[in-house]
Amino acid sequence: MLTEVKIREILGSLKEPFLHKTLDELNAIEEIKIKEEKNHVSVKLQIAKTGTAEQLQLQTQVVNLLKEAGAQTVGIRFSELPESVLAEHRSAAAETEDKGLLSSNKTTFIAIASGKGGVGKSTVSVNLAVALARLGKKVGLIDADIYGFSVPDMMGITKRPVVRGEKILPVERFGVKVISMGFFVEDNSPIIWRGPMLGKMLNSFFNEVEWGEIEYLLLDLPPGTGDVALDVHTMLPACKEVIVTTPHPTAAFVAARAGAMALRTDHEILGVIENMSYFESKLTGEKEYVFGKGGGDKLAEDLNTEVLGRLPLNQPDWNDDDFAPSIYQEDHKLGKIYLEIAEKMTSRLNK
Ligand SMILES: Nc1ncnc2c1ncn2[C@@H]1O[C@H](COP(=O)(O)OP(=O)(O)OP(=O)(O)O)[C@@H](O)[C@H]1O
Ligand SMILES: [Mg+2]
Repeated sequence: MLTEVKIREILGSLKEPFLHKTLDELNAIEEIKIKEEKNHVSVKLQIAKTGTAEQLQLQTQVVNLLKEAGAQTVGIRFSELPESVLAEHRSAAAETEDKGLLSSNKTTFIAIASGKGGVGKSTVSVNLAVALARLGKKVGLIDADIYGFSVPDMMGITKRPVVRGEKILPVERFGVKVISMGFFVEDNSPIIWRGPMLGKMLNSFFNEVEWGEIEYLLLDLPPGTGDVALDVHTMLPACKEVIVTTPHPTAAFVAARAGAMALRTDHEILGVIENMSYFESKLTGEKEYVFGKGGGDKLAEDLNTEVLGRLPLNQPDWNDDDFAPSIYQEDHKLGKIYLEIAEKMTSRLNK
C-alpha cells in the first residue's frame, strides 16, 4: 500500500521544469491525500508557471509514477510557487546559466564576415562548423543573418528547436548545434524589423538558448558592415573574424572594409578565405580562374593576415537519404579543404 512517505519520496526527486530544482528542494509538494478504500491518491504541487506544456509533461510523469507504485487513480492540482521562492531560485539559475556562454572563456567566437553579399559566407560558415565538428570539437553556429537566414535550408534541417523550461534547445545536425531566425518564422515569410530589435534577437540567441559546452561558436553574419555586424562587435569584444572574398580584385577591395571594421573594434582577424577561386575541369584537371585572380592574397596583405584556404567552384554530392544541399562530404575535394582550414584555425587559436 502507498504511504505518504513513499509518495513524497517518489515525487520529491522530480525536477521542477522551469527552475530545474527538485520538488523537494523547492518545497513544492503542498499536500498528499490517500483514499485507501479506492486506492486513490491526490496531490497538490507547485510549479513556476501553471497552464503550460511543462505542467502537462510533469503531470503525465507524476500520474505514471504513482500508478506504477500502485495507485489505482491519481488526482493532481497545480498552483504557482510563491514569488519569494521564484526570486531566490531564478537568480541562482540565472547566475549559473545565463551568463554561461557570453562570459565563458572556454568558448571562442568566430564571425564569418564579408564586404558584400553572395560571396559564400553562409556556405563557408556551415562547412567550417561541420569541419570543426568532424575534428571532434564542440561547435555551435548562430545564423546571425536575421533577415536573410539560410543556414537551416543549407544544412537540410527540418526539425525545430525544443523549448525546455525557459530555454531554447538548439537543433543539432552533423554534430553542430544550430540556431537561426528561420526556426521561428512561419512559411518562410519575410521579416521586417528595425535596428534595435536585431540586437535583441542576437541577445536572445546567446542568453535564451541552452548551448551547453561549446568550444567554437561560429556566427554567419549578414553581408556588409551594417547593424548586426556592429552589434556583434559591441556584444562580443573578444570575437575573432574570418573574412570571405572572391578572387576578383574589386571584391577584395570591398571586403577590406569589413576587415577594417574588425580591426577598428579590435577583433582579431584569423585569416581570409577565398571562395569560388577557380573552376577545375573534371576531364583535363585544368584550372580556369573564372572570377579573376589575386583577390584573396591582396586582402590578406591589406589586413596583415594570411589566406587560410582557397575553395574552387563545386557542388556537394547530393544524398537523398540525408539531404543537406550545401554540406560537402568529408571525402569530397572541398570537404577536405574545409578540414584543412579548420585544422589551421584551431592550431592558430591554441597557440
Ligand atoms: N565554392 C562554391 N562553388 C559553387 N557554388 C558556391 C560556392 N560557394 C558558394 N556557392 C553558391 O553561391 C551562392 C551564394 O553563397 P552563400 O549563400 O553562401 O553566400 P553569402 O555570402 O552567405 O550570401 P548572402 O550575402 O546573401 O548571405 C549559393 O547558391 C551557394 O550555393
Ligand atoms: Mg548568407
